[in-house]
Amino acid sequence: MKEIGYYNGEMGLLNEMKIPMQDRALYFGDGVYDVTFAYNHHLFAMNDHLDRFYNSCRMLEIDFPLTREELTAEIQKCVDAAETDGAVVIYWQSSRSNSKRNHVYPDPSNQPTLLITITEAKPMDYSIPMKLITWEDTRFYHCNIKTLNLIPNVVASQRAKEAGCGEAVLHRGNQLTECAHSSLLLLKDGVLIGPRLNELILPSISRKHLFEIAEQLGVPTEMRDVTMDEVWNADEVIVCSTTKVTAAADTLDGKPVGMKDRDLFHKLQKAYFDRVEKEIGWKLG
Ligand SMILES: Cc1ncc(COP(=O)(O)O)c(C=O)c1O
Repeated sequence: MKEIGYYNGEMGLLNEMKIPMQDRALYFGDGVYDVTFAYNHHLFAMNDHLDRFYNSCRMLEIDFPLTREELTAEIQKCVDAAETDGAVVIYWQSSRSNSKRNHVYPDPSNQPTLLITITEAKPMDYSIPMKLITWEDTRFYHCNIKTLNLIPNVVASQRAKEAGCGEAVLHRGNQLTECAHSSLLLLKDGVLIGPRLNELILPSISRKHLFEIAEQLGVPTEMRDVTMDEVWNADEVIVCSTTKVTAAADTLDGKPVGMKDRDLFHKLQKAYFDRVEKEIGWKLG
């Protein structure tokens, strides 16, 4: 396959593409992004990802100029240009503009930018449970906007990697928020539990799908404040994201967690895999 880069209408091989020095994403991280995947040129869950992308734009007052249809067409062009029938990760971001550095918003004649990358999707080995660390959540209070400001997430991910782990479980004191680049859900006594949606966590699409699947399967769900004590005592600790889909964790800070309701976890995971296969033909797991 070819890895593709796109910037404001120009498309080429990813490692040959360049962006202008005055893109506000570079010096302010002043932009938003979203991520999904495609298989055999079919885009996954675009409606959900577009809803979140335009909502992120609205919350940051970025007047993104393309309609949903126009944006989807640009993304589709990039996916097709990758020339693969396999799975690809689609990343796109919009910054407020390409204009001289100035903290205040530029004149509206400076239009928001669009950057797209298409890279290979590497499916996880779902038979290996994830290892996690805990990490105090020091992010600002707009985590519900998918902004480019990800420094605390980057540092937390690095600490997890250094500990030989796949994710960092973020918490504010005893309150669970999410992971550095995934959501965290629990199974306890047959109930799927996740932190309530507020400004402290991203409205994750994979999490939304898991809640929908649970409801379809008749599994009770709860969205509410969740403590770290509950994470330690959960029957299953579930890490989910668009690219990871859904995986169970078996250790947290080197101590055992979860892995006590394998049947229900596998039922939810299989239903998610089936959903992906039904929508775009990609067979996971
Ligand atoms: C901080 C954070 N939380 C949760 C998620 C999972 O979101 P989604 O399921 O939409 O991929 C991500 C994914 O990038 C993330 O960065």
